[in-house]
Amino acid sequence: MRGFIEGVEFPGQYRGVRYNGSARRAGRSARPRSRHTFPRSLNPRLSRLSPYPFERLRELFSGITPNPAKNPIALSIGEPKHPTPRLVLDAMTAAGSGLANYPMTAGAPALREAIARWLARRHGLPSLDPATQVLPVLGSREALFAFAQTVVDASRVGATVVTPNPFYQIYEGAALLAGATPYCVNATPEHGFVPAWDEVPDTLWARTQLVYVCSPDNPTGRVTTIDEWQRLFELSDRYGFVIAADECYSEVYFDEAKAPLGSLAAAHQSGRSGFPRLLCFGSLSKRSNAPGLRSGYVAGDAGLVKSFLLYRTYHGSAMSPAVAAASLAAWNDEVHVRENRAAYAAKFTALQPRLAAALPCPMPEAAFYLWAATPGDDAEFARRLYAEQAVSVLPGSYLGREAHGANPGRGRVRIALVAPLAECAEAVDRIVAFLRTV
Ligand SMILES: Cc1ncc(COP(=O)(O)O)c(C=O)c1O
Repeated sequence: MRGFIEGVEFPGQYRGVRYNGSARRAGRSARPRSRHTFPRSLNPRLSRLSPYPFERLRELFSGITPNPAKNPIALSIGEPKHPTPRLVLDAMTAAGSGLANYPMTAGAPALREAIARWLARRHGLPSLDPATQVLPVLGSREALFAFAQTVVDASRVGATVVTPNPFYQIYEGAALLAGATPYCVNATPEHGFVPAWDEVPDTLWARTQLVYVCSPDNPTGRVTTIDEWQRLFELSDRYGFVIAADECYSEVYFDEAKAPLGSLAAAHQSGRSGFPRLLCFGSLSKRSNAPGLRSGYVAGDAGLVKSFLLYRTYHGSAMSPAVAAASLAAWNDEVHVRENRAAYAAKFTALQPRLAAALPCPMPEAAFYLWAATPGDDAEFARRLYAEQAVSVLPGSYLGREAHGANPGRGRVRIALVAPLAECAEAVDRIVAFLRTV
């Protein structure tokens, strides 16, 4: 069996780097068998990483043959399936290769300006300074990860990174590899999926260095309110921690009149000039159906942007000029974004009530997931649904951690309505049929 850590493939013994410890306990030599195959040492923090949810899903489904009478439908992965807009593809082609020069880590000035203008328009902000408050990144994932490496001071006793629970697993890996301990704040249906920020003890806030907030949230689809942001800002002022606002789903919502509140807007409305200790992370992956482009931005506190740029210069994450040109075209156009939203709205309007009649799943405020309660164990539900109906969904417990006596993902599945409407409708019908048998 082979193990994977973020696309890095390790021989089975190295999976989670448990090889040395377990070999030692078993009285065997911890020395790798071949100098050429195995590294002599590995960062011990790697051993604390959990398998990614999709790796766990692969394991759950291994050995199962999905019902051969039905075509497989994947609603497990949050990968947009609507077409990438022509204007993005055209801009990329027209950019030519631009491969003769190294791009700047700070990004093309024109792209920084376009992002700054877009942010100001979208969030009703006074103009942002593209030179100091905005930075293009290669998708929000790498930036969310790299930011923890910039912010966390592991030499301080009890370095802590706070994350919601359930959560996007990158937050946890970023915290661990930065040398911090993640602390989970549960978001439960009893409290409307609001992370229980007020249950975090003061002593914990006092050693917190970074807080991840996801809004609109994956997987619950909830949008952080102004009151919540103000509470977090207040806590940040008191304890000095930095807030990383993951807003990669900010442009996927169902009512054109109700764009989700963003963190920068919340800070601006609260009179927080310069967005102290706040960095917002956005992306073209979901907004413009371009997850393969690897393009996003960070924006906010100029001091944080400056430090992050310093880190990134060494990390080596400069954007290709062709990607920059395609990104510029995407940020400058809202027509395709409205069309994209309309396609999601059509799916959610038609299918959420249909599924909710059989399986409790609230209508999300935004993003493209249904966070549905399962009758019984979520992994068993996903396994049987795949075997009997060839529909894959993601067990909610894979997205959460056992914390404060519960895994808030347990007893739920995440259903991504990313496939075309007809395919999603077929999947929902199969889930409803399956429920009659459980
Ligand atoms: C909550 C959340 N944040 C960030 C990302 C990363 O997206 P990207 O790197 O494509 O911008 C994802 C991807 O699915 C996500 O679900």
